[in-house]
Amino acid sequence: MKKVKVAVIGNGTIANSAHGPAYYNNPLSEIKYAVDIIPERAQAFKEKFDAEYAVTDYREAIADPEVELVSVCVPNYLHAPITIDCLNAGKHVLCEKPAAMNYKEAYAMKQAADNNNRILNIGVVNRFHTAVNKVKELIEAGELGKLYHIYCSFRAYRSIPGLGGPFTTKSLAGGGVLIDWGVHYLDLILYCIGSPALKSVSAAAYSEMAKDMKSYVFTDMWAGPPDYNGTFDVEDFVTGMIRTSGPTITFNGAWAQNINERAAFIEFLGDKAGIKLQYGGNFTIWSSKDGMLLETTPTFTMSDMFYDEVDAFIKCAQEGKKIRSNIDNVIACSLLMDKIYESAAIGKEVEF
Ligand SMILES: NC(=O)c1ccc[n+]([C@@H]2O[C@H](COP(=O)([O-])OP(=O)(O)OC[C@H]3O[C@@H](n4cnc5c(N)ncnc54)[C@H](O)[C@@H]3O)[C@@H](O)[C@H]2O)c1
Repeated sequence: MKKVKVAVIGNGTIANSAHGPAYYNNPLSEIKYAVDIIPERAQAFKEKFDAEYAVTDYREAIADPEVELVSVCVPNYLHAPITIDCLNAGKHVLCEKPAAMNYKEAYAMKQAADNNNRILNIGVVNRFHTAVNKVKELIEAGELGKLYHIYCSFRAYRSIPGLGGPFTTKSLAGGGVLIDWGVHYLDLILYCIGSPALKSVSAAAYSEMAKDMKSYVFTDMWAGPPDYNGTFDVEDFVTGMIRTSGPTITFNGAWAQNINERAAFIEFLGDKAGIKLQYGGNFTIWSSKDGMLLETTPTFTMSDMFYDEVDAFIKCAQEGKKIRSNIDNVIACSLLMDKIYESAAIGKEVEF
């Protein structure tokens, strides 16, 4: 069977843990190019996933007509320019989350996909999570009754990523905990509730825990050690309320806080039943029947969401189909995050 050829641009954490294994293990694909501006990373990725070439300039990979698919796994500020270049070169693209640093960039990416008649998917991988899809099915089947409110928490204890690096520099990331973690939660919620019209948002954002970078004490520092000569100008805490044509949504997110408790979950409140979904895990559903209170935690087999995300990308690109992770279906979240940041900046509710 002829395998579709892939270039993976950016060979860091997510490329090594998710995209690389997913293409490598898929009988439909093979990685032709490992691309990273750090040559050793490209070389290591090439060897690990049996790619043909390791290169430092992505333009070399996308000039190859044999390459049909590209994964874009670079820092946020490069999502839009690299994705647009790939689309203009006639490639289908799976770009990591967040789609871009803001809605304007995400919209330009969508236009490039439309103009070139190419598929552009975003790495909203939770849309491929088994438990998330079970929750979506239960909501759609009316099991929760009237769904009136959703609360989500994406809070960790002293866990700012790569302090001073691309994750904490606004011009490179677009924002902090909201755009990095919150995007997964808000996208997942909009997916589960069928993307209602967004009405307004009121939010606040804080950057308190590492304002003096050198005195910030941490329990873990994923995405690299601190760079004290770097920048920390994004929020480490965010809170807010969103009004939609359906349920209201409230959220609290913290990369770091002075509470030593990880709280990563989403609660769906309906008048018939409520669901608490542990982020990345299982869920419990509570209801009542004939004077009894019911509590169920189902068991089911979880599939590998990253494998499924990539497998769906390979197939939908071949068929030219816009699926659940297509930019068209996720771009609303970029606008939502813009409005959250706008509301936090002006200290007032903003409308859509
Ligand atoms: N879906 C998820 O759950 C998930 C998890 C982690 C990261 N991400 C996203 O993936 C992206 C990358 O994050 P990461 O944690 O892998 O970061 P990382 O820093 O580990 O990797 C990024 C890589 O891109 C390379 N790079 C930078 N500029 C480049 C260029 N012009 N051309 C080629 N390579 C270039 C860097 O050298 C680095 O190796 C981010 O947008 C992040 O939000 C998604």
